[in-house]
Amino acid sequence: MKKILDLITEELQNVLKDCGYDPQYGKVGISNRPDLCEYQCNGAMAAAKIYKKAPIMIAKEVTEKLQEKEMFEEISAVMPGFINIKINKAFLADYLNQMRKEEDFGCEKEENPKTIIVDYGGANVAKPLHVGHLRSAIIGESVKRIMKFFGNRVIGDVHLGDWGLQMGLIIEEVKNRKPELPYFKENETIDFSKEEPPFTISELEEIYPTASEKSKKDEKFKERAHQATYRLQNGDPAYTALWQMIMKVSKEDLKKNYDNLQVEFDLWKGESDAQPYIPSMIEDMVERKIAYESQGALVVDVTQEEDSKEIPPCLIKKSDGASLYATSDLATIVQREQDYQPNHYIYLADKRQELHFTQVFRVARKASLVSSDCKMDFLGFGTMNGKDGKPFKTREGGVMRLEYLIKEIYEAVCKKMEENPSIQKEHIEETAKIIGLAAIKYGDLSNQASKDYIFDIERFSSFEGNTGPYILYTIVRIKSILNKYVENGGDLEKANKIQPAYTKSEKDLMLVISKLSEVLESSYQEIAPHRICQYLYELAENFNSFYHNVVILKEEEEEKKYSWITLLKLTKEVLETCIDLLGFQAPERM
Ligand code: ARG
Repeated sequence: MKKILDLITEELQNVLKDCGYDPQYGKVGISNRPDLCEYQCNGAMAAAKIYKKAPIMIAKEVTEKLQEKEMFEEISAVMPGFINIKINKAFLADYLNQMRKEEDFGCEKEENPKTIIVDYGGANVAKPLHVGHLRSAIIGESVKRIMKFFGNRVIGDVHLGDWGLQMGLIIEEVKNRKPELPYFKENETIDFSKEEPPFTISELEEIYPTASEKSKKDEKFKERAHQATYRLQNGDPAYTALWQMIMKVSKEDLKKNYDNLQVEFDLWKGESDAQPYIPSMIEDMVERKIAYESQGALVVDVTQEEDSKEIPPCLIKKSDGASLYATSDLATIVQREQDYQPNHYIYLADKRQELHFTQVFRVARKASLVSSDCKMDFLGFGTMNGKDGKPFKTREGGVMRLEYLIKEIYEAVCKKMEENPSIQKEHIEETAKIIGLAAIKYGDLSNQASKDYIFDIERFSSFEGNTGPYILYTIVRIKSILNKYVENGGDLEKANKIQPAYTKSEKDLMLVISKLSEVLESSYQEIAPHRICQYLYELAENFNSFYHNVVILKEEEEEKKYSWITLLKLTKEVLETCIDLLGFQAPERM
């Protein structure tokens, strides 16, 4: 279904053409003076320069020809040459009725669906999930859903950090604590397959920070941890078996955490899965002289002429033979190319990793790991700060664990709900979880991803203002009106036609609904979930003004009442579709 802006633009373009002007000047946009008009076209100003005429002349010529058009309620030329437009109410109502009939409200899908890998989550095994990983999970999940909505084949991969020094640190610390374990017996062939994990998740989560602290003070311990890492990475059977235990315990816990966030991955791969692809990849890069030796290490030059700042060579193998973060990412590309041949890669990570991804993308292209038309995007996100403007911490000043953060929001929401006497106690727990999740996700997604933002529990969990709970509240309000309508004997099936708006606020609401596909498309093109948040807020605000202006259920005129109920249904469906793209749902009551 055509976008409403395109339909209006077409009308103007046809007239421009008839009058002998280039139709490109007919582009219509949403008005930035909503007090004067709904849409506007500023093309006459640019056309005036080409055709050596006063802009107002051109604007008048166009508007005069369009006076009779049914599409417009009002179209006028104003100085110095603006074309101001108000759309016809019946036309707008028809447009909405059409939206209701079409799948996904008539949003046009990708003509050539792509295979897209979204690399997000990025948790590090055996290290607790902290708020830094929260953003990756939240934004990535939304990006994945938006890409899918447009008809692409999208594969979300958690890409665990499961192969680094942290593994050696953990192994070494476990060895200190439990040297009697079979993994540390030398010169024996043991069948590890029947072993149970020698630690619980809480132990594991304590082991890593302890070991990490120790390695900072104790050089010998650090050296042993490096050796353990080396042994693991070279396939030592005992250490591999122990590593699998770490993976098992840690993954179970991560799954639980991501489940709570309603973040779902199609793939649970990690850096370790890419390791088998490294040797041949490096060999090939050396053979083709893409990688060369520099001070014993292997590097790839990635500078490009247009660079304004220097991009250092990408290190793919250290002088001691160890591979690096970039090597893992490159080998992962080799693996993904083999398994999925993606047309587009989207990576989510802290924006401080920008240089890393610039290097990786450039090497991938230079070495033709990906085809030349493959898109590679890095979506770097900013830091989540506390109210003091510093990275978010616990009240005691420690690193904030995700679980605690979720708990804090949950408690804030519970408190609000307990103030509401109409809500039954037994619903509070379940509902507060749903609202809490919306508060966290919306609070994050409503900011442009690359910006730092302040995580403000009070504000995010408020039921008023530009917040997740406010959006949910609006949906719940509509649900409750629709329920009452049915309880009073109303038939939802009969409410199936939107009439031309009866009131101003109703038309405003309809105008907002009508631009849904534009908004979704821009969030898709720009990979920008915050566009959807802006829209949701505008839609909710407009709905609430409409709602406060009319008495829906007591309306006597049947056609009017049906029309309003239909408009409510449509508003609710649009809101629900949008929040689903952000990765959360609305409760039944709140
Ligand atoms: N594990 C990494 C971290 O915690 C994030 C991984 C991002 N994805 C990637 N393909 N490098 O910083």
